[in-house]
Amino acid sequence: QQNTIAFAKSNDTTVISKHIYGHFAEHLGRCIYDGFYVGEDNTTIPNTNGVRNDIINALKALNIPNLRWPGGCFADTYHWKDGIGPKENRPAIVNTWWGNVTEDNSFGTHDFLNLCEVLNTEPYISGNVGSGSVQELADWVQYVNFEGKSPMSDLRRQNGREKPWKVKFWGVGNEAWGCGGNMRPEYYVDVYRKYATFMSGVGVEGGLDKIASGASDADYRWTETLMRDIPHNLLQGVALHHYSVIDWGSKGSSTEFKEDQYFKTMQRSWKMEELIQKHTEIMDKYDPERKVDLVVDEWGGWYDVMQGTNPGFLYQQNTMRDAMIAGMNLNIFNNHAQRVKMANLAQTVNVLQAVILTEGKKMILTPTYHVMEMYKIHQDAVLVPLQLKTDNYEYKGEYLPAISASASIDKEGVTHISLVNIDLHDSKNITVSLDKVYKSVSGRILKSAKVQDYNSFGDPEKIKPTDFKGAVLKKDGIKIEVPPFSVVVLALK
Ligand code: AHR
Repeated sequence: QQNTIAFAKSNDTTVISKHIYGHFAEHLGRCIYDGFYVGEDNTTIPNTNGVRNDIINALKALNIPNLRWPGGCFADTYHWKDGIGPKENRPAIVNTWWGNVTEDNSFGTHDFLNLCEVLNTEPYISGNVGSGSVQELADWVQYVNFEGKSPMSDLRRQNGREKPWKVKFWGVGNEAWGCGGNMRPEYYVDVYRKYATFMSGVGVEGGLDKIASGASDADYRWTETLMRDIPHNLLQGVALHHYSVIDWGSKGSSTEFKEDQYFKTMQRSWKMEELIQKHTEIMDKYDPERKVDLVVDEWGGWYDVMQGTNPGFLYQQNTMRDAMIAGMNLNIFNNHAQRVKMANLAQTVNVLQAVILTEGKKMILTPTYHVMEMYKIHQDAVLVPLQLKTDNYEYKGEYLPAISASASIDKEGVTHISLVNIDLHDSKNITVSLDKVYKSVSGRILKSAKVQDYNSFGDPEKIKPTDFKGAVLKKDGIKIEVPPFSVVVLALK
Protein backbone atom coordinates (compact mmCIF):
# COMPACT_ATOMS: atom_id res chain seq x y z
CA GLN A 1 0.00 0.00 0.00
CA GLN A 2 1.01 3.59 -0.54
CA ASN A 3 1.45 5.91 2.42
CA THR A 4 -0.47 9.14 1.98
CA ILE A 5 -1.41 12.12 4.07
CA ALA A 6 -4.10 14.66 3.21
CA PHE A 7 -5.22 17.65 5.22
CA ALA A 8 -8.86 16.94 6.08
CA LYS A 9 -11.19 19.80 5.17
CA SER A 10 -12.49 21.24 8.41
CA ASN A 11 -13.76 24.49 9.89
CA ASP A 12 -12.73 23.25 13.27
CA THR A 13 -10.36 25.46 15.20
CA THR A 14 -9.52 23.11 18.03
CA VAL A 15 -6.43 24.22 19.87
CA ILE A 16 -3.97 21.56 21.00
CA SER A 17 -3.76 22.45 24.67
CA LYS A 18 -0.19 23.03 25.75
CA HIS A 19 -1.04 20.90 28.80
CA ILE A 20 -0.87 17.80 26.62
CA TYR A 21 2.88 18.32 27.02
CA GLY A 22 2.72 18.11 30.82
CA HIS A 23 4.90 16.26 33.32
CA PHE A 24 4.57 14.35 36.56
CA ALA A 25 6.96 14.22 39.54
CA GLU A 26 6.26 11.94 42.50
CA HIS A 27 8.02 11.26 45.78
CA LEU A 28 9.19 7.96 44.35
CA GLY A 29 12.69 6.55 44.04
CA ARG A 30 15.08 9.24 42.83
CA CYS A 31 12.58 11.59 41.20
CA ILE A 32 12.42 14.28 43.89
CA TYR A 33 15.25 13.42 46.29
CA ASP A 34 18.59 12.96 44.53
CA GLY A 35 16.76 13.92 41.33
CA PHE A 36 15.19 17.37 41.25
CA TYR A 37 16.14 18.20 44.81
CA VAL A 38 19.66 18.00 46.13
CA GLY A 39 19.19 20.32 49.13
CA GLU A 40 19.89 24.00 49.71
CA ASP A 41 23.19 23.20 51.44
CA ASN A 42 24.60 21.33 48.45
CA THR A 43 27.76 23.11 47.31
CA THR A 44 28.83 20.64 44.61
CA ILE A 45 25.74 20.73 42.40
CA PRO A 46 24.61 24.24 41.37
CA ASN A 47 21.02 24.70 42.53
CA THR A 48 18.22 27.18 43.09
CA ASN A 49 16.58 26.69 46.49
CA GLY A 50 17.92 23.14 46.44
CA VAL A 51 16.67 22.23 42.93
CA ARG A 52 19.38 21.43 40.36
CA ASN A 53 19.95 24.26 37.90
CA ASP A 54 20.71 21.85 35.04
CA ILE A 55 17.28 20.28 35.46
CA ILE A 56 15.62 23.68 35.69
CA ASN A 57 17.30 24.82 32.48
CA ALA A 58 16.48 21.61 30.61
CA LEU A 59 12.80 21.79 31.59
CA LYS A 60 12.60 25.48 30.71
CA ALA A 61 13.87 24.62 27.24
CA LEU A 62 10.90 22.23 26.87
CA ASN A 63 8.41 24.96 27.87
CA ILE A 64 6.88 22.50 30.29
CA PRO A 65 3.30 23.71 30.75
CA ASN A 66 2.47 21.95 34.03
CA LEU A 67 3.93 19.68 36.67
CA ARG A 68 1.85 17.18 38.66
CA TRP A 69 2.93 16.50 42.27
CA PRO A 70 3.31 14.86 44.90
CA GLY A 71 1.93 11.59 43.41
CA GLY A 72 0.74 9.13 42.20
CA CYS A 73 0.12 6.64 44.94
CA PHE A 74 2.19 8.76 47.32
CA ALA A 75 -0.44 11.53 47.12
CA ASP A 76 -3.05 9.55 49.04
CA THR A 77 -0.62 9.06 51.93
CA TYR A 78 0.68 12.63 51.97
CA HIS A 79 -0.28 15.07 54.71
CA TRP A 80 0.73 18.47 53.42
CA LYS A 81 1.19 20.08 56.82
CA ASP A 82 4.18 17.74 57.33
CA GLY A 83 5.94 19.60 54.53
CA ILE A 84 5.67 23.25 55.60
CA GLY A 85 7.55 25.42 58.09
CA PRO A 86 11.21 25.23 59.15
CA LYS A 87 12.78 22.13 57.64
CA GLU A 88 14.40 21.04 60.89
CA ASN A 89 10.96 20.80 62.51
CA ARG A 90 9.33 18.74 59.79
CA PRO A 91 8.47 15.18 60.80
CA ALA A 92 10.15 12.25 59.10
CA ILE A 93 7.57 9.77 57.90
CA VAL A 94 7.63 6.47 56.01
CA ASN A 95 6.96 6.45 52.28
CA THR A 96 4.85 3.32 52.47
CA TRP A 97 4.11 3.15 48.75
CA TRP A 98 7.60 3.36 47.48
CA GLY A 99 10.00 1.15 49.37
CA ASN A 100 9.19 2.06 52.99
CA VAL A 101 12.01 4.60 52.91
CA THR A 102 12.15 7.60 55.21
CA GLU A 103 10.60 10.73 53.79
CA ASP A 104 11.99 13.72 55.67
CA ASN A 105 9.52 16.16 54.10
CA SER A 106 12.31 18.58 53.17
CA PHE A 107 10.62 19.08 49.78
CA GLY A 108 7.12 20.35 50.51
CA THR A 109 4.45 22.75 49.30
CA HIS A 110 6.59 25.93 49.21
CA ASP A 111 9.49 24.06 47.60
CA PHE A 112 7.25 22.67 44.87
CA LEU A 113 5.28 25.83 44.14
CA ASN A 114 8.39 28.02 44.14
CA LEU A 115 9.97 25.59 41.68
CA CYS A 116 6.91 25.91 39.43
CA GLU A 117 7.37 29.69 39.48
CA VAL A 118 11.03 29.34 38.52
CA LEU A 119 10.03 26.99 35.69
CA ASN A 120 7.17 29.27 34.67
CA THR A 121 4.91 26.23 34.70
CA GLU A 122 1.48 25.58 36.18
CA PRO A 123 1.34 23.36 39.27
CA TYR A 124 -1.09 20.47 39.41
CA ILE A 125 -1.54 19.23 42.98
CA SER A 126 -2.91 15.76 43.69
CA GLY A 127 -4.91 15.89 46.91
CA ASN A 128 -5.06 13.18 49.55
CA VAL A 129 -8.46 11.55 49.50
CA GLY A 130 -7.46 7.99 50.45
CA SER A 131 -6.09 8.72 53.92
CA GLY A 132 -6.78 12.42 54.33
CA SER A 133 -9.87 14.38 55.21
CA VAL A 134 -12.15 16.85 53.49
CA GLN A 135 -10.97 19.54 55.88
CA GLU A 136 -7.30 18.80 55.21
CA LEU A 137 -7.70 19.21 51.46
CA ALA A 138 -9.93 22.28 51.81
CA ASP A 139 -7.24 23.79 54.07
CA TRP A 140 -4.50 23.06 51.53
CA VAL A 141 -6.46 24.86 48.82
CA GLN A 142 -6.95 27.81 51.14
CA TYR A 143 -3.28 27.81 52.21
CA VAL A 144 -1.96 28.10 48.66
CA ASN A 145 -4.73 30.18 47.08
CA PHE A 146 -6.37 32.56 49.51
CA GLU A 147 -5.31 36.20 49.33
CA GLY A 148 -7.28 37.60 52.29
CA LYS A 149 -6.93 36.89 55.96
CA SER A 150 -7.70 33.41 57.20
CA PRO A 151 -6.04 30.85 59.49
CA MET A 152 -4.47 29.07 56.50
CA SER A 153 -3.31 32.17 54.61
CA ASP A 154 -1.86 33.54 57.86
CA LEU A 155 0.04 30.29 58.30
CA ARG A 156 1.39 30.65 54.76
CA ARG A 157 2.59 34.18 55.53
CA GLN A 158 4.15 32.98 58.75
CA ASN A 159 6.09 30.50 56.59
CA GLY A 160 7.44 33.31 54.45
CA ARG A 161 5.07 33.59 51.50
CA GLU A 162 2.89 36.68 51.24
CA LYS A 163 1.14 36.22 47.89
CA PRO A 164 -0.89 33.11 47.13
CA TRP A 165 0.30 30.93 44.26
CA LYS A 166 -3.23 30.52 42.81
CA VAL A 167 -3.05 26.88 41.87
CA LYS A 168 -5.73 25.96 39.35
CA PHE A 169 -5.30 22.21 38.79
CA TRP A 170 -6.28 19.86 41.64
CA GLY A 171 -6.56 16.10 41.55
CA VAL A 172 -9.22 14.76 43.91
CA GLY A 173 -7.31 11.62 44.86
CA ASN A 174 -5.29 9.33 42.61
CA GLU A 175 -6.18 5.84 41.36
CA ALA A 176 -9.07 5.62 43.84
CA TRP A 177 -9.80 2.17 42.36
CA GLY A 178 -6.37 0.97 43.60
CA CYS A 179 -3.64 2.57 45.70
CA GLY A 180 -5.93 5.53 46.42
CA GLY A 181 -8.30 3.43 48.51
CA ASN A 182 -9.51 0.39 46.53
CA MET A 183 -12.91 2.03 46.13
CA ARG A 184 -15.82 1.02 43.95
CA PRO A 185 -16.78 3.74 41.44
CA GLU A 186 -20.18 4.23 43.12
CA TYR A 187 -18.46 4.89 46.44
CA TYR A 188 -15.77 7.15 44.94
CA VAL A 189 -18.45 9.26 43.24
CA ASP A 190 -19.93 10.15 46.62
CA VAL A 191 -16.53 10.76 48.14
CA TYR A 192 -15.61 12.99 45.19
CA ARG A 193 -18.83 14.99 45.45
CA LYS A 194 -18.12 15.70 49.10
CA TYR A 195 -14.46 16.70 48.63
CA ALA A 196 -15.15 18.83 45.58
CA THR A 197 -17.92 20.69 47.40
CA PHE A 198 -15.51 22.05 50.01
CA MET A 199 -12.60 22.95 47.71
CA SER A 200 -12.99 26.68 47.26
CA GLY A 201 -12.09 28.23 43.93
CA VAL A 202 -12.05 31.77 45.34
CA GLY A 203 -9.30 33.91 43.83
CA VAL A 204 -8.56 31.61 40.90
CA GLU A 205 -9.77 32.85 37.54
CA GLY A 206 -12.58 30.60 36.34
CA GLY A 207 -12.43 28.58 39.59
CA LEU A 208 -10.47 25.38 40.20
CA ASP A 209 -10.03 22.62 37.65
CA LYS A 210 -10.98 19.64 39.78
CA ILE A 211 -9.86 16.38 38.23
CA ALA A 212 -11.47 13.13 39.32
CA SER A 213 -9.39 10.02 39.72
CA GLY A 214 -10.32 8.17 36.56
CA ALA A 215 -10.09 4.82 34.94
CA SER A 216 -7.16 2.53 34.56
CA ASP A 217 -6.90 1.47 30.93
CA ALA A 218 -10.20 -0.01 29.68
CA ASP A 219 -12.27 0.35 32.85
CA TYR A 220 -15.15 1.97 30.99
CA ARG A 221 -17.61 1.35 33.83
CA TRP A 222 -15.51 3.67 35.99
CA THR A 223 -15.75 6.53 33.48
CA GLU A 224 -19.45 5.89 32.88
CA THR A 225 -20.23 6.04 36.61
CA LEU A 226 -18.26 9.26 37.12
CA MET A 227 -19.76 11.03 34.12
CA ARG A 228 -23.29 9.96 35.03
CA ASP A 229 -23.25 10.55 38.78
CA ILE A 230 -21.00 13.53 39.45
CA PRO A 231 -22.72 16.86 38.79
CA HIS A 232 -20.72 18.53 36.04
CA ASN A 233 -20.45 21.83 37.87
CA LEU A 234 -18.18 19.96 40.31
CA LEU A 235 -16.19 18.19 37.62
CA GLN A 236 -13.70 19.75 35.20
CA GLY A 237 -11.64 16.71 34.32
CA VAL A 238 -11.64 12.93 34.43
CA ALA A 239 -8.28 11.18 34.53
CA LEU A 240 -7.12 8.17 32.55
CA HIS A 241 -3.95 6.20 33.31
CA HIS A 242 -2.42 3.95 30.69
CA TYR A 243 1.14 2.71 30.61
CA SER A 244 2.90 0.91 27.79
CA VAL A 245 3.72 -1.88 30.23
CA ILE A 246 5.25 -5.17 29.31
CA ASP A 247 6.52 -8.03 31.42
CA TRP A 248 5.12 -6.45 34.54
CA GLY A 249 6.71 -7.99 37.59
CA SER A 250 9.67 -9.64 35.89
CA LYS A 251 13.15 -8.38 36.57
CA GLY A 252 15.77 -7.83 33.97
CA SER A 253 17.59 -5.12 32.18
CA SER A 254 15.48 -2.57 30.37
CA THR A 255 18.27 -2.21 27.81
CA GLU A 256 18.13 -5.83 26.63
CA PHE A 257 15.21 -5.30 24.33
CA LYS A 258 14.36 -7.81 21.62
CA GLU A 259 12.01 -7.23 18.70
CA ASP A 260 9.14 -9.21 20.27
CA GLN A 261 9.30 -6.98 23.37
CA TYR A 262 9.50 -3.92 21.19
CA PHE A 263 6.49 -5.03 19.15
CA LYS A 264 4.45 -5.68 22.32
CA THR A 265 5.40 -2.25 23.62
CA MET A 266 4.20 -0.65 20.39
CA GLN A 267 0.95 -2.63 20.64
CA ARG A 268 0.41 -1.28 24.14
CA SER A 269 1.20 2.22 22.91
CA TRP A 270 -1.28 2.02 20.02
CA LYS A 271 -3.87 0.87 22.59
CA MET A 272 -3.99 4.50 23.74
CA GLU A 273 -5.88 5.38 20.54
CA GLU A 274 -8.66 2.88 21.26
CA LEU A 275 -8.83 3.85 24.95
CA ILE A 276 -9.22 7.53 24.20
CA GLN A 277 -11.84 6.86 21.54
CA LYS A 278 -13.93 4.70 23.85
CA HIS A 279 -13.62 6.88 26.95
CA THR A 280 -14.49 9.87 24.76
CA GLU A 281 -17.62 8.12 23.46
CA ILE A 282 -18.82 7.64 27.03
CA MET A 283 -17.99 11.21 27.96
CA ASP A 284 -19.77 12.51 24.85
CA LYS A 285 -22.93 10.68 25.91
CA TYR A 286 -23.12 12.64 29.18
CA ASP A 287 -21.32 15.80 28.10
CA PRO A 288 -21.96 16.45 24.40
CA GLU A 289 -20.60 19.98 24.66
CA ARG A 290 -17.27 18.60 25.85
CA LYS A 291 -16.92 20.72 28.96
CA VAL A 292 -15.32 17.98 31.05
CA ASP A 293 -11.76 17.23 29.97
CA LEU A 294 -10.14 13.86 29.55
CA VAL A 295 -6.83 14.13 31.42
CA VAL A 296 -4.29 11.41 30.68
CA ASP A 297 -2.39 12.26 33.80
CA GLU A 298 -0.09 9.24 33.71
CA TRP A 299 1.34 7.65 30.57
CA GLY A 300 4.63 6.24 29.30
CA GLY A 301 6.72 3.08 29.09
CA TRP A 302 7.05 0.76 32.07
CA TYR A 303 9.37 -2.25 31.92
CA ASP A 304 10.77 -5.11 33.93
CA VAL A 305 10.42 -3.49 37.33
CA MET A 306 8.65 -4.87 40.39
CA GLN A 307 6.25 -2.34 41.76
CA GLY A 308 7.39 -0.97 45.10
CA THR A 309 10.09 -3.53 45.72
CA ASN A 310 12.44 -2.78 42.87
CA PRO A 311 15.75 -1.62 44.31
CA GLY A 312 15.97 1.01 41.60
CA PHE A 313 12.53 2.35 42.53
CA LEU A 314 11.22 2.33 38.98
CA TYR A 315 14.46 3.66 37.57
CA GLN A 316 14.69 2.36 34.03
CA GLN A 317 17.00 3.11 31.17
CA ASN A 318 15.13 5.32 28.70
CA THR A 319 16.08 4.17 25.21
CA MET A 320 15.20 5.00 21.63
CA ARG A 321 12.13 2.75 21.85
CA ASP A 322 10.73 5.26 24.38
CA ALA A 323 11.08 7.98 21.78
CA MET A 324 8.69 5.91 19.65
CA ILE A 325 6.22 5.62 22.53
CA ALA A 326 6.42 9.37 23.10
CA GLY A 327 6.04 10.38 19.45
CA MET A 328 3.12 8.02 18.89
CA ASN A 329 1.26 8.95 22.09
CA LEU A 330 1.70 12.67 21.53
CA ASN A 331 0.30 12.26 18.01
CA ILE A 332 -2.69 10.43 19.48
CA PHE A 333 -3.26 13.16 22.09
CA ASN A 334 -2.95 15.92 19.48
CA ASN A 335 -5.49 14.23 17.24
CA HIS A 336 -7.93 13.98 20.17
CA ALA A 337 -7.36 17.56 21.28
CA GLN A 338 -11.09 18.24 21.36
CA ARG A 339 -11.45 16.09 24.48
CA VAL A 340 -7.91 15.51 25.74
CA LYS A 341 -6.80 18.75 27.37
CA MET A 342 -3.95 17.51 29.49
CA ALA A 343 -1.50 14.59 29.52
CA ASN A 344 1.42 14.11 31.89
CA LEU A 345 4.36 11.90 31.12
CA ALA A 346 5.40 9.63 34.01
CA GLN A 347 7.84 10.71 35.38
CA THR A 348 10.12 13.67 34.81
CA VAL A 349 13.42 12.63 36.46
CA ASN A 350 14.94 9.17 37.16
CA VAL A 351 11.59 7.31 37.24
CA LEU A 352 9.87 5.31 34.47
CA GLN A 353 9.91 7.14 31.12
CA ALA A 354 11.99 10.01 32.40
CA VAL A 355 13.06 12.93 30.23
CA ILE A 356 16.08 13.49 32.48
CA LEU A 357 18.44 11.06 34.24
CA THR A 358 20.99 12.03 36.87
CA GLU A 359 24.01 10.38 38.40
CA GLY A 360 25.91 12.44 40.95
CA LYS A 361 26.81 15.72 39.30
CA LYS A 362 25.96 14.44 35.83
CA MET A 363 22.66 14.91 34.04
CA ILE A 364 21.57 13.56 30.66
CA LEU A 365 18.66 14.18 28.34
CA THR A 366 16.90 11.03 27.17
CA PRO A 367 15.55 10.36 23.65
CA THR A 368 12.08 11.07 25.10
CA TYR A 369 13.29 14.52 26.10
CA HIS A 370 14.25 15.20 22.50
CA VAL A 371 10.84 14.14 21.22
CA MET A 372 9.14 16.48 23.69
CA GLU A 373 11.45 19.24 22.55
CA MET A 374 10.79 18.56 18.84
CA TYR A 375 7.02 18.44 19.43
CA LYS A 376 6.79 21.60 21.56
CA ILE A 377 5.80 23.50 18.39
CA HIS A 378 2.33 21.90 18.75
CA GLN A 379 1.71 23.53 22.13
CA ASP A 380 -1.34 25.81 21.84
CA ALA A 381 -1.29 25.52 18.03
CA VAL A 382 -4.47 24.86 16.03
CA LEU A 383 -5.01 21.21 15.21
CA VAL A 384 -4.96 20.29 11.53
CA PRO A 385 -6.87 16.99 11.20
CA LEU A 386 -5.16 14.51 8.88
CA GLN A 387 -6.34 11.68 6.68
CA LEU A 388 -3.57 9.14 6.88
CA LYS A 389 -3.10 5.92 4.97
CA THR A 390 -0.22 3.85 6.20
CA ASP A 391 1.58 0.58 5.60
CA ASN A 392 1.71 -1.93 8.39
CA TYR A 393 4.64 -2.91 10.52
CA GLU A 394 4.49 -6.69 10.52
CA TYR A 395 6.07 -8.94 13.11
CA LYS A 396 5.52 -12.72 13.08
CA GLY A 397 2.06 -12.49 11.52
CA GLU A 398 0.86 -9.56 13.65
CA TYR A 399 0.33 -6.07 12.29
CA LEU A 400 0.39 -2.49 13.52
CA PRO A 401 0.07 0.77 11.60
CA ALA A 402 3.67 1.74 10.83
CA ILE A 403 3.15 5.49 10.66
CA SER A 404 1.44 7.78 13.13
CA ALA A 405 1.09 11.48 12.43
CA SER A 406 -0.44 14.74 13.63
CA ALA A 407 -0.31 18.32 12.44
CA SER A 408 -0.97 21.84 13.64
CA ILE A 409 -0.65 25.42 12.50
CA ASP A 410 1.05 27.87 14.83
CA LYS A 411 0.48 31.58 15.47
CA GLU A 412 2.95 32.56 12.73
CA GLY A 413 1.04 30.43 10.22
CA VAL A 414 3.68 27.68 10.03
CA THR A 415 2.24 24.19 9.57
CA HIS A 416 4.02 21.41 11.46
CA ILE A 417 3.62 17.71 10.81
CA SER A 418 5.03 15.15 13.23
CA LEU A 419 5.58 11.62 11.97
CA VAL A 420 6.67 8.41 13.65
CA ASN A 421 7.77 5.30 11.77
CA ILE A 422 7.78 2.43 14.28
CA ASP A 423 8.90 -0.15 11.69
CA LEU A 424 12.32 -1.37 12.78
CA HIS A 425 13.39 -2.41 9.28
CA ASP A 426 11.79 -0.42 6.45
CA SER A 427 11.70 3.23 5.60
CA LYS A 428 8.35 4.59 4.45
CA ASN A 429 7.73 6.81 1.45
CA ILE A 430 4.87 9.17 2.16
CA THR A 431 3.14 11.61 -0.17
CA VAL A 432 1.48 14.61 1.45
CA SER A 433 -1.10 16.30 -0.77
CA LEU A 434 -1.13 20.02 -0.18
CA ASP A 435 -3.99 22.27 0.87
CA LYS A 436 -2.26 25.47 -0.26
CA VAL A 437 0.99 26.72 -1.76
CA TYR A 438 4.05 26.39 0.43
CA LYS A 439 7.46 27.91 -0.29
CA SER A 440 9.62 25.60 1.75
CA VAL A 441 9.78 22.49 3.84
CA SER A 442 12.39 21.76 6.49
CA GLY A 443 12.59 19.24 9.26
CA ARG A 444 14.32 17.54 12.16
CA ILE A 445 14.74 13.86 12.83
CA LEU A 446 15.52 11.65 15.83
CA LYS A 447 16.74 8.20 14.93
CA SER A 448 19.05 5.46 15.97
CA ALA A 449 20.26 2.19 14.56
CA LYS A 450 19.29 -0.22 17.32
CA VAL A 451 16.23 -0.61 19.50
CA GLN A 452 18.47 -0.81 22.58
CA ASP A 453 20.32 2.46 21.88
CA TYR A 454 20.28 5.10 24.59
CA ASN A 455 22.11 8.15 25.86
CA SER A 456 24.45 7.16 28.66
CA PHE A 457 26.43 9.21 31.16
CA GLY A 458 29.54 8.33 29.14
CA ASP A 459 27.95 9.13 25.77
CA PRO A 460 25.18 11.64 26.52
CA GLU A 461 24.68 12.84 22.94
CA LYS A 462 24.52 9.53 21.12
CA ILE A 463 20.88 10.23 20.19
CA LYS A 464 19.86 13.78 19.47
CA PRO A 465 17.85 15.55 16.76
CA THR A 466 19.54 16.43 13.48
CA ASP A 467 18.40 18.18 10.32
CA PHE A 468 16.12 16.08 8.15
CA LYS A 469 16.71 16.21 4.41
CA GLY A 470 14.25 13.49 3.39
CA ALA A 471 11.30 15.77 2.53
CA VAL A 472 11.06 17.34 -0.92
CA LEU A 473 8.51 19.95 -1.94
CA LYS A 474 7.04 19.25 -5.40
CA LYS A 475 4.18 20.78 -7.36
CA ASP A 476 1.82 17.93 -6.57
CA GLY A 477 2.80 17.48 -2.92
CA ILE A 478 5.60 16.72 -0.50
CA LYS A 479 7.48 13.46 -0.90
CA ILE A 480 8.96 12.20 2.33
CA GLU A 481 11.12 9.23 3.07
CA VAL A 482 10.88 8.46 6.77
CA PRO A 483 13.69 6.12 7.88
CA PRO A 484 12.88 3.07 9.99
CA PHE A 485 12.60 3.59 13.75
CA SER A 486 12.55 7.37 13.63
CA VAL A 487 10.61 10.47 14.65
CA VAL A 488 10.40 13.40 12.21
CA VAL A 489 8.93 16.88 12.59
CA LEU A 490 8.42 19.00 9.47
CA ALA A 491 7.85 22.75 9.15
CA LEU A 492 5.93 23.91 6.07
CA LYS A 493 6.14 27.61 5.28
O1 AHR B 1 3.89 6.42 38.21
C1 AHR B 1 4.02 5.36 39.11
C2 AHR B 1 2.69 4.94 39.72
O2 AHR B 1 1.86 4.44 38.72
C3 AHR B 1 1.88 6.04 40.34
O3 AHR B 1 2.25 6.31 41.65
C4 AHR B 1 0.49 5.48 40.31
O4 AHR B 1 -0.50 6.47 40.23
C5 AHR B 1 0.51 4.57 39.09
O5 AHR B 1 0.02 3.31 39.37
